Amino acid sequence: TDRSAQQRPIVLVGLMGVGKSTVGRRLAGRLRLPFVDADTAIEEAAGMTVAEIFERFGEPYFRDGERRVIARLMDGRPKVIATGGGAFINDDTRALILATSTAIWLHAHPDVLAERVGRRDTRPLLRGRNPRQVLSELATVRNPIYAEAHIHITSNKSPHDTTVNAILQAIG
Ligand code: S3P
Repeated sequence: TDRSAQQRPIVLVGLMGVGKSTVGRRLAGRLRLPFVDADTAIEEAAGMTVAEIFERFGEPYFRDGERRVIARLMDGRPKVIATGGGAFINDDTRALILATSTAIWLHAHPDVLAERVGRRDTRPLLRGRNPRQVLSELATVRNPIYAEAHIHITSNKSPHDTTVNAILQAIG
């Protein structure tokens, strides 16, 4: 199949720890497309880390900046974009992603996610809390929403390269 026919950006969505950035970077390499990590783009635009934005301005402010940065990333040359776990949960950001990209949900069991983020994660939603419990609660609330993505890929235990191959197969 002709992958150059892939016009839309590819946007990876899913919970923290599922491997969106690692998988996205490798997927972009295989497709010879640029890769952009949306959280990194937000940090560059704000001149602050995601944790600092949450701390100083709160989550709603972060979500608004996140939507604007993702909207900007959708323009221009097609690329692979890894989003922060909450981006697709925001109604406006999700509508934008669904309308303009191929949205891929990377899905894994909360036990697998907790193992991948480790015990001392600095993400604002996990810091000082039990990651396994938070991730399990977030999965309950968010999975039905992530399920609106165009393509679903499970990455339980599998190495990231296996996940990349599954995506390549799914997008043909
Ligand atoms: C968040 C996920 C994080 C980051 C922020 C909020 C979330 O991104 O955007 O901490 O709400 O799930 P990752 O999924 O890249 O960790």
